[in-house]
Amino acid sequence: MISSKYIPIIKIRPIIVGVVFSISLSVHAEDSAQPRDGEIVYAKICGYCHDVGIGPNIKDRQLPPEYIHYIVRRGLRAMPAFPEPYISDEELKQIGRFIY
Ligand code: HEC
Repeated sequence: MISSKYIPIIKIRPIIVGVVFSISLSVHAEDSAQPRDGEIVYAKICGYCHDVGIGPNIKDRQLPPEYIHYIVRRGLRAMPAFPEPYISDEELKQIGRFIY
């Protein structure tokens, strides 16, 4: 039986934590040495927020690859950072090409 004093904490836990957690699980499940295609990585990770209005549209905006790399590695306010084990440098380049 969970004590009722914990219930409010469970309720206010930010949704974003759940989102990022489930994304990292799904990425890890398919870890492989081969870089994944930009379109696939975009659909699996970035599209989770950027195709549904949680994040701004980033497609067809000619965003420079360096900018994408910078944002993804460091995060930006509500956007979490995605370090190397989740997305490789090569995959970031592929994403950049796909959304350009
Ligand atoms: C958990 C949700 C989430 C995921 C997943 C996510 N983003 Fe974001 N992203 C955001 C949000 C929210 C912003 C806007 C941040 C702000 O301006 O406060 C953003 C902003 C950005 C920006 C800056 C856009 C601009 O207009 O300058 C880029 C570039 C970007 N994301 C790229 C990516 C890429 C590439 C991926 C996939 C590897 C990704 N994001 C995955 C939520 C996410």
